[in-house]
Amino acid sequence: MSDTTVALITGAGHGIGKATAKLMAARGWTVAINDLKPEFVEEALAEVQAMGGKAIPVVQNVGTRDGVRAAVELVRAEAGQLDVMVNNAAWVRYQAIPDIQPETVERMMQIGFASIIWGIQAAAEAMQDRGGTIVNTASAAAFRSAPNSLVYSGIKSGVTGLTRAAAAELGGQGIRVNAVAPSAVPTEGTQKHRNAALDAKRVATTPLGRLGTVEDIARAICYFAGPESDFVTGQTMLIDGGIVRSNL
Ligand SMILES: NC(=O)c1ccc[n+]([C@@H]2O[C@H](COP(=O)([O-])OP(=O)(O)OC[C@H]3O[C@@H](n4cnc5c(N)ncnc54)[C@H](O)[C@@H]3O)[C@@H](O)[C@H]2O)c1
Repeated sequence: MSDTTVALITGAGHGIGKATAKLMAARGWTVAINDLKPEFVEEALAEVQAMGGKAIPVVQNVGTRDGVRAAVELVRAEAGQLDVMVNNAAWVRYQAIPDIQPETVERMMQIGFASIIWGIQAAAEAMQDRGGTIVNTASAAAFRSAPNSLVYSGIKSGVTGLTRAAAAELGGQGIRVNAVAPSAVPTEGTQKHRNAALDAKRVATTPLGRLGTVEDIARAICYFAGPESDFVTGQTMLIDGGIVRSNL
């Protein structure tokens, strides 16, 4: 066991997960970069190493219980411990209610919901001796929904419930569990769902007058993952420039 914090971030090859890995690495933490795609892991790994950070590659599909367990085991084998688990990976489709198909629901549930259950289970086991923190990525869609988001909003609302329940059960073991709920943030994953008119509308209705960035979300994840939030658990924090709670 070392004094360095060791964090595993799922879906860290791109977007919010990669930004989180880079910010944690800049804080001197060892970051285990998970992604399904080896080339994404390689890319993120190179970026962290170029900063002088310590990174462990974890190519693994976290859409199954075995996959999540294998990812956690690899980190323990390489780094000797797991202190922070960020359950961030998701697979997302937006569909009108009549178009929703069982395969879409199943895949979204496996990667965006069940995977968090298995992530909490595996992390809790790995953290049983010295405690730790778990951060889940929910979404502003847990609090405010648009058309075509039946499955996505449902899953992300569920993530807020998982977060509360895990916090209640694991607090006594020194494990804190929180979630971030980002509004729209430009990433590789959201590129195909965005356009200039939609972005302009979002900016106009956001009190802070801009879209979020991956760094905005990464800072909040780091807050929940680190000692600054030592007395905080079971929370889902909106990182949204105020859009959800305002009526502009
Ligand atoms: N970007 C946004 O606007 C936004 C808003 C709210 C919530 N979120 C949530 O934030 C999280 C990250 O979103 P993003 O926009 O950064 O995504 P992204 O698509 O840019 O990156 C996600 C990464 O996860 C990987 N991944 C997908 N399935 C995987 C699996 N089974 N195993 C391992 N890795 C897998 C992908 O290969 C990809 O590299 C998601 O949970 C998303 O729902 C994003």
